[in-house]
Amino acid sequence: MSGILVYCRAGFENDCAAELQDKTAALGVFGYCQTTSNSGYVVYRCQPEEADHLGRKLALKELVFARQFIVIIAELADIPATDRVSTIQIALLDEQLNEHFAMVKPAGDLRVETPDTNDAKELTTFCRKFTVPLRQGLRQSGWLTAKESDRRPTLHAFFLSGQQLVLGYSYSYNQSPWPMGILRLRSPSDAPSRSTLKLDEAFQVFIPAHEREQRVSSGMNAVDLGAAPGGWTYQLVRRGMMVQAIDNGPMAQSLMDSGQVKHIREDGFKYRPKKKNVTWLVCDMVEKPMRVTELMIQWFIDGDCKEAIFNLKLPMKKRYAMVSECLQLIQTELAEKGMGRYEVQAKQLYHDREEVTVHVRSA
Ligand SMILES: C[S@@+](CC[C@H](N)C(=O)[O-])C[C@H]1O[C@@H](n2cnc3c(N)ncnc32)[C@H](O)[C@@H]1O
Repeated sequence: MSGILVYCRAGFENDCAAELQDKTAALGVFGYCQTTSNSGYVVYRCQPEEADHLGRKLALKELVFARQFIVIIAELADIPATDRVSTIQIALLDEQLNEHFAMVKPAGDLRVETPDTNDAKELTTFCRKFTVPLRQGLRQSGWLTAKESDRRPTLHAFFLSGQQLVLGYSYSYNQSPWPMGILRLRSPSDAPSRSTLKLDEAFQVFIPAHEREQRVSSGMNAVDLGAAPGGWTYQLVRRGMMVQAIDNGPMAQSLMDSGQVKHIREDGFKYRPKKKNVTWLVCDMVEKPMRVTELMIQWFIDGDCKEAIFNLKLPMKKRYAMVSECLQLIQTELAEKGMGRYEVQAKQLYHDREEVTVHVRSA
């Protein structure tokens, strides 16, 4: 059975599926989704040539609920624990399969992965140990280049259990660089909250590495709406920015001691900077997504910031529909006001829970 397999946060399979249905249709592909609650992935079924088309054209960067996706080559069940490598090698001898995936052979690299669920965590050690023998086996069968190459597609061995495997590939120009699509970050011991990782991840996901130094840099002015206790402010301070932290709640003393933070006890929906010298606006206020979106739009219309990163909290059922509505509003409002070109990106980050993170930049 052909199609693509999409990695997502466990519990968000329906949102991921709704988004896939929407965005594949926009590319003229009309398949269907198979979901299992809390599995951490969605399978989208379509014709083999359509699956490869999605692998190339369905931009991972534009998918909100997908961390990574692979074009399915083969689905194997009942793999014997004693001889997994040769079972996979034998499956890959299939003539039709070799003909159909000729353009992928040999792939440039291999990732052995699992869904991001508690059950699958038990497979982590196995995956690490299995990578070396599987890589050797795939090289012998001509499915992998002798040396790693980032110009060729990547093979993914996605283990659903010790006996069940989905083998697929992703194109190097349309994939997450991180195993399982997860950017793992260590929480700094002196950060006031674990939320700090959300903004750290957002900067790394949304701003290309070669532009980061210029766009997220020392000496810039930033505003943090809903800042307390200061996890996001911590990331701005760490990057050398001067921060106006807006919240009625208390900020961590360590941040105040840095001399880079001005704590303003005001309503984040009313506060505006006195000067037009703010580069970064960040916002983590727990509020209705549409209300936060409208506030962000207004900051851009008024020229009060150049780039913004904000979270949309999604306690409702139809999370994809809500996110789409908010993103659509940003596009239409900024276009209607003749605000020129804007870049809008949104992602459910690894460190996000019932929320997604949005980045807007006047380009
Ligand atoms: C999720 S917490 C922010 C955590 C923060 N980003 C961190 O990393 O430590 C939400 C904060 O928004 C603040 N908040 C909610 N509504 C607000 C409003 N209207 N104006 C200012 N702050 C608000 C709350 O007081 C709370 O401290």
